Amino acid sequence: LRHFLTLDGLDKATLTEILDTADSFIEVGARSIKKVPLLRGKTVVNLFFEASTRTRSTFELAAKRLSADVLNLNISTSATSKGESLSDTLQNLEAMASDMFVVRHSQSGAPHFIAESVTPNVSIINAGDGRHAHPTQAMLDMLTIRQHKGQFEGLKVAIVGDILHSRVARSQIRALNTLGVAEVRVIAPNTLLPVDIESLGANVFSTMQEGLDSVDVIIMLRLQKERMEGALLPSEHEFYELYGLTTEKLKYAKPDAIVMHPGPINRGVEIESAVADGPQSVILNQVTNGIAVRMAVMSMAMSGQTAAISAATSE
Ligand code: CP
Repeated sequence: LRHFLTLDGLDKATLTEILDTADSFIEVGARSIKKVPLLRGKTVVNLFFEASTRTRSTFELAAKRLSADVLNLNISTSATSKGESLSDTLQNLEAMASDMFVVRHSQSGAPHFIAESVTPNVSIINAGDGRHAHPTQAMLDMLTIRQHKGQFEGLKVAIVGDILHSRVARSQIRALNTLGVAEVRVIAPNTLLPVDIESLGANVFSTMQEGLDSVDVIIMLRLQKERMEGALLPSEHEFYELYGLTTEKLKYAKPDAIVMHPGPINRGVEIESAVADGPQSVILNQVTNGIAVRMAVMSMAMSGQTAAISAATSE
């Protein structure tokens, strides 16, 4: 069984191998992605129980670039709406000789649960579960940072906004520390920070002026209202005043700092349009890199070439 559920337990060599493999799929000097036969004859099923634009689309494109057959199950019109259980749905999809399920779910741990229930012939790739993990997002973010900064050593990276509800932030903090950046910072009000934030490996700042001082990379996050459940929050206006990334606040960072965001962005809430669309923004590069990184993860998991992925994530 070969799964990719979390970055926990994966070492620097394995993360670097994912980035190098992703790089190998990018045409030199071009934005285009190679088509390769690595998953020819395999069937990949996209199982998205929660909304997605970027992740679902780039997983589909990645699978097609790997020459796999791709099935996108529309959950809202599937037989789950007639009362079929998740495990019965999965058994039926397995009976179609599926080789890989790409799973997004609002419940933390859902892909792990599915990984435990499928037969050994099927690989599970986590496409984001609750507030727990979004490992392929973090890896496409790492590829984008490496492309623009050349290396991880010495970099100061600030992650700004709703850390508490963010699976992306948890996976990014793990990846950045494993790859050896100089410092990971989080900038947020106390109400949007998890209690274990320092043990995750991040230094906490409560103002943009202090937190952005001399950073190389700024990662903005949106307010994830779908996971807030009545939390005590600033209004969108207050949040933008204090934590929104504007042209003025961007000046606190290094002049060559890059601006990132996993999307979807909420303009005028966590980021000003002039910054999101400005010369320091690499937000659309992140989206493009999603195809190559997801090709890397799917091909490595299917081939078993990365024993470490299996070992760290298959239990
Ligand atoms: N970054 C991200 O996960 O975006 P989607 O929700 O559109 O997939």
